[in-house]
Amino acid sequence: MRNRRAALAAIASAASLALTLTACGQNSEGGSEEDKGGSDGATVGIAMPTKSSERWITDGANVEKELKAKGFETKLVYGEDDPDQQVSQIENMITQGVDALIVAAIDNKSLGNVMQQAKDADIPVISYDRLILGTENVDYYASFDNEKVGELQGGYIVDKLGLKAGKKGPFNIELFAGSNDDNNTRYFFNGAMKVLKPYMDKGQLVVRSKQTDLNQVTTLRWDGGTAQKRMDDLLTSSYRSARVDAVLSPYDGISIGILSALKSDGYGSGSKPMPVVTGQDAEIASVKSIKAGQQTQTVFKDLRELAKVAANMVDAVLDDKKPEVNDTKSYDNGAKVVPAYLLQPVSVDKSNWEKVLVDGGYYSADQLN
Ligand code: GAL
Repeated sequence: MRNRRAALAAIASAASLALTLTACGQNSEGGSEEDKGGSDGATVGIAMPTKSSERWITDGANVEKELKAKGFETKLVYGEDDPDQQVSQIENMITQGVDALIVAAIDNKSLGNVMQQAKDADIPVISYDRLILGTENVDYYASFDNEKVGELQGGYIVDKLGLKAGKKGPFNIELFAGSNDDNNTRYFFNGAMKVLKPYMDKGQLVVRSKQTDLNQVTTLRWDGGTAQKRMDDLLTSSYRSARVDAVLSPYDGISIGILSALKSDGYGSGSKPMPVVTGQDAEIASVKSIKAGQQTQTVFKDLRELAKVAANMVDAVLDDKKPEVNDTKSYDNGAKVVPAYLLQPVSVDKSNWEKVLVDGGYYSADQLN
């Protein structure tokens, strides 16, 4: 028997059979109770990385809501961006006897031992949004097409600067990437570079700082303050006599930091227009910034859908069924290719935020005022 939930269901079904037999005085109505899609008392542990970003607060709430609607109990914890804390939180949930785990990793490589503990306790694990690396003990992956996120960011810069026409440029661009311990970082960066690199090779895009390798441009724990500091340094070292035309930013919290540095340097007024600045997550502060003409773009990922995918995966696995997946090739975690369900991201800017985010019911118009 795969798991505790199945065991609980069997006990419940045996008890109900006994009751049926007693009530009817015969055994003709035997057989197991039909599964009604309920939880059978199962508890799902949810480990989220941090409350410092709005998106993960939304993720926690959405995942709990979806699981509770299916009759599960939930335990939701946040690791304050501290990998050790996340490990001990997951250990605690295993000790407390959760039936399944949904984990959005802080440090993708720090979870090997605790995943082994989950395996030993027969607890299935869904990797949520960020893939856990280096262990076979991850059952499924629920995420977005992460390379596509990068392509949307890079493609937006290409369109905004009119690079496809061939003659425009040279434009100055600086590159930022996410945390080096998050597997998504390289997917976002590679997706963006796939689109941007040909224009860098042709000289239509110039990186004055010469910092073009992923390991030169990462931002530990996606921290906005760290990004602001790096942008300050870049402006001082490479832009005293030149202007930045575009900044590739992988995530809204980083974009806000970059915009602060640009504003302090006089961008966004008179002869120094704001460069094109990308982002990701459609966090409220960034959508407001887009409305105000500061941040240029973000990539919206519908977290309502991601929560549904993760909850459906748990439900199926605990029923000994195969969850729906739509990708069995892209996400090799070093120990195995993890079967994934990938949702589609959407580029959002001044022209479509209302249609996508408000008409789509993700935010109310009031939240964005
Ligand atoms: C990534 C995630 C992004 C963004 C970032 C910072 O793993 O895919 O959407 O939220 O973390 O939190």
